[in-house]
Amino acid sequence: MGYPIVRPRRLRQNKLIREMVSETSLDIKDLIYPVFIDEGASERNPVVSMPGVERLPLNALEEEIDEIAGMGIPGVILFGIPEHKDETGEGASAPGNVIERAVRSIKRRNREIIIMADVCLCEYTTHGHCGPLKGLTVDNDATLDLISRTAVNYARAGADVVAPSGMMDGMVHAIRSELDFHGLKDTIIMSYAAKYASSMYGPFREAAASGCQIGDRSAYQMDPANSDEAIREVALDLEEGADIIMIKPALSYLDIISRVKSEFRVPVAAYSVSGEYAMIKAAAARGWIDGDLVSQEILLSMRRAGADMVITYLAKEIAPLLGK
Ligand code: PBG
Ligand code: ZN
Repeated sequence: MGYPIVRPRRLRQNKLIREMVSETSLDIKDLIYPVFIDEGASERNPVVSMPGVERLPLNALEEEIDEIAGMGIPGVILFGIPEHKDETGEGASAPGNVIERAVRSIKRRNREIIIMADVCLCEYTTHGHCGPLKGLTVDNDATLDLISRTAVNYARAGADVVAPSGMMDGMVHAIRSELDFHGLKDTIIMSYAAKYASSMYGPFREAAASGCQIGDRSAYQMDPANSDEAIREVALDLEEGADIIMIKPALSYLDIISRVKSEFRVPVAAYSVSGEYAMIKAAAARGWIDGDLVSQEILLSMRRAGADMVITYLAKEIAPLLGK
């Protein structure tokens, strides 16, 4: 039995009834804003391929955090651009590292905001790969040692969440053991569990100066053709102690978000990456799409797919539009 007894349009007659039956929402409390901190900079520098996004000097961070927290955005994820790079990415775990200093300065401010720190070596290596090279590819186990020390430094400085993004085997286990060994039992691990070797990271690599000088990342990041493999990666990271599972990119991987959420029922984060932001901005600037509406629709689609939280460069501009 269907029409004429059943008429789905009954529940779409007006805004109030539509809102009552709506299944998902996009709330400011689910958004995380990425922040780039440039150790060598003395002023804010715009990222050309990401209009509205800037690289901040350390001394602009406190006012930036005041603004973000003041808007009601509950979390930031920090990326560092160090003054010096080397072959192994040693700078990530060195005392006085840019992120360590950034975290301390945010902590001093005492704002109610969750501080997440991306843990990877690609910003710190001269070749731009996510760990020291052995031959033509990244040495997995040597990288584990470096990133676990990095995670401890950030956590000690006060990071609430560490987010390993290098797609190294065993990275969650290595970090969890090192954190626990240092008594940092409450530090949350948000693992970039299914991070694809995507072409959508271009603008980020401009922002973070982290592009590969030779080759690409397809020997460690996932093949965009695969979905079962994402399930395996997520299962391993959960076994190793991950608290939050991240899928990245988001827009072209909604199927992965949906599958991971329904198979594991754990907290899932979607990272709406730089290329997604750039596409929306470019089309909106030409007046080809309504940027505000498209942004909200896309972010809502990530929530509908199953993401509990979304990391997005749109957070600051979308925040004032939500709840209207
Ligand atoms: C570092 C890292 C990258 C992103 C987040 N962490 C870049 C990469 O893998 O090259 C991409 C984020 C974005 O494009 O917005 N490993
Ligand atoms: Zn990396």
